[in-house]
Amino acid sequence: MSILALQKKLERNVTLLAVGALVTVVIGGIVEIAPLFWIDQTIEKVEGVRPLTPLEQAGRDIYQREGCYTCHSQMIRPFRDEVERYGHYSLAAESMYDHPFQWGSKRTGPDLARVGGRYSDEWHAQHLKDPRSVVPESIMPPYAFLADRDLQTDGYSGNLTALRRVGVPYSDEDIKKAEEDMRTQASGDADAAGLAKRYPDAQSRDFDGQPSRLTEMDALVAYLQQLGTHVDFRKVEPHEVQR
Ligand code: HEC
Repeated sequence: MSILALQKKLERNVTLLAVGALVTVVIGGIVEIAPLFWIDQTIEKVEGVRPLTPLEQAGRDIYQREGCYTCHSQMIRPFRDEVERYGHYSLAAESMYDHPFQWGSKRTGPDLARVGGRYSDEWHAQHLKDPRSVVPESIMPPYAFLADRDLQTDGYSGNLTALRRVGVPYSDEDIKKAEEDMRTQASGDADAAGLAKRYPDAQSRDFDGQPSRLTEMDALVAYLQQLGTHVDFRKVEPHEVQR
């Protein structure tokens, strides 16, 4: 039977077509899914990637609560225009501790995967309080109330415990000290050496311009300032540094 005759037969017989489609999908499925049962990991480990500190993680909770992801993605695709605008394309390992990930599918505002360190803390606090005061044409809503709301630290250890259950490698000490760590990281004068040892390169300072208070603004700015900063791309690909 020629190919054409076979096709004619398949397309005119709905049962045969359904069986043919099923066989094709099953083969495709096996090829895609089966290897996952035999390989040890699907994500290549990358130096520098660490779990978020409790303060940054709390900032991430606020980011989710406020729906920032409805306007902002956190995934730089490996296309030239994206890489030139935002920096090195995102690596799988960079979101391996995100539960759930914040890749997003909509960009009303710019991608935030590497916004860390691009602006000062003052800029972020001002921009979140009143976006149009720094970017006149902005259509981002204001979030001034974050600077007035005390950050809830009580019981935050429980959040880290939950994250550990799904695979984020927090140590017993990290979990025990979660609430203390939040206060330490957000105050400029506390001794942050212990924190920096457990969370390499964690930045500790007052983030919201109100040193006497620990607010939701502190947590959100701390979260934004570390985004995309963990991997040192100069070490990995010296010729491809964008930022
Ligand atoms: C209605 C859509 C919308 C929402 C919701 C939104 N943003 Fe934005 N955002 C924008 C737009 C548009 C811009 C670009 C103009 C500007 O800088 O204000 C922007 C810019 C930014 C920038 C500057 C990025 C850069 O590289 O210049 C940051 C940081 C940011 N947003 C954070 C947030 C955070 C945090 C939240 C949640 C609390 C949030 N946004 C919620 C639309 C939004």
